[in-house]
Amino acid sequence: MKILKDFSLQSLNTFGVEAKTKYFVNIQTREEFSELFLNEKLHSLPLLILGGGSNILFRKNYFEGLIIKVSLKGIEIVNEDQTRAILEVAAGENWNELVDYTLEKSWSGLENLSLIPGSVGGAPIQNIGAYGVEIKEVIEELEACEIATGKRIYFSAENCQFGYRDSFFKNEGKDRFIILSVRFSLSKGNRINLSYGALRQELQQMNILQPDLKEISRAVIRLRTRKLPDPKIKGNGGSFFKNPVIKKEVYEVLKKKYPEIVGYTISKNHIKLAAGWLIEKAGWKGRKIGRAGVHPSQALVLINSGGATGEEIYGLSEYIIKDIRDLFGITLEREVRII
Ligand code: FAD
Ligand code: EPU
Repeated sequence: MKILKDFSLQSLNTFGVEAKTKYFVNIQTREEFSELFLNEKLHSLPLLILGGGSNILFRKNYFEGLIIKVSLKGIEIVNEDQTRAILEVAAGENWNELVDYTLEKSWSGLENLSLIPGSVGGAPIQNIGAYGVEIKEVIEELEACEIATGKRIYFSAENCQFGYRDSFFKNEGKDRFIILSVRFSLSKGNRINLSYGALRQELQQMNILQPDLKEISRAVIRLRTRKLPDPKIKGNGGSFFKNPVIKKEVYEVLKKKYPEIVGYTISKNHIKLAAGWLIEKAGWKGRKIGRAGVHPSQALVLINSGGATGEEIYGLSEYIIKDIRDLFGITLEREVRII
């Protein structure tokens, strides 16, 4: 296990912004992990756990602490019968490679979550979701290590307190645990979820009436590649903000003023608004401030147009938050973690 000093993070965050960390360690094995617990830096410095760096913006260009990149690998089938397969997957596995693995086995559950960047260990932190599915639906439990004590703790899906882009690990559990592995419960056979309108439409356009898992994945990938920029080409962190959830009464007032506003009923009294619509309506779609911009095909995505600093991208997000508050009386919450 090597602890590196003044290490560059530019290739380890999908915004591609330059930032350095005072100390950096890449943990590839369980043995290195145990060794890390004997190191005093772990207990004396500010810590940040890093997966694929696809939901983090390094606003400051220097992190005065230790960054631990979790690169543990391995996929194990721990149980299998005629209807289900239980997989235990190490935190450092790439999310999309895991989806492809399950598609090859024809096990359903992850196909709607195709092409989301990042690691398996990073995925439960915000309960990743796309096209009508959230990861909480397929997680059985996860194994984490409590940093203060070194104790292994198993969290059931219920104890993870999953919500929309939310979990225990973003609240009371924030920065206190390192996720080591995640157990998924997947169905055998074609148990598909076509609840998301845009996904149904895409399959229709592909002339597919009874899709199998790979066809659903293909439709999701087509949708995503049309709307979302490839971080290798234009640095980004996916949706920069969450879609705001508001009370029905507030929605009714907004709807009178903006009849074309986009919102989805999520409970009797609550509506989830499409933040992309609000940002587009406020005139930000495709706009740039210096080297930071709003993606021309998806206003919820902020991009590094080339050489932007974390501060520039953060500054752009501040302008957007202010305009949306002034125009609609709604305060957008960032989905991307700011460091
Ligand atoms: P990181 O960005 O490295 O870290 C994110 C958070 O998780 C940090 O707080 C970090 O400390 C913590 N963390 C990471 N690994 C661990 C671990 N092993 N133990 C403890 N804490 C850990 N998200 C969606 O939900 N739906 C989408 O459709 C979606 N589309 C995206 C599209 C693009 C182009 C991009 C760039 C991002 C998208 N995202 C999406 C956001 C992002 O991909 C996910 O949030 C992803 O799960 C983050 O994983 P990561 O490994 O990159 O985490
Ligand atoms: N819209 C606009 N203008 C825009 C963008 C969107 O008007 O520029 C409106 C359109 O009406 C569109 C609707 O918003 O139909 C919804 O857009 P989209 O289907 O692209 O989804 P989203 O709500 O913008 C959410 C997630 C994405 C996820 C997609 C698909 C959040 C914050 N974002 O985006 O997740 O991939 O749905 O399920 O919930 C991420 O979290 O990083 C992410 C990319």
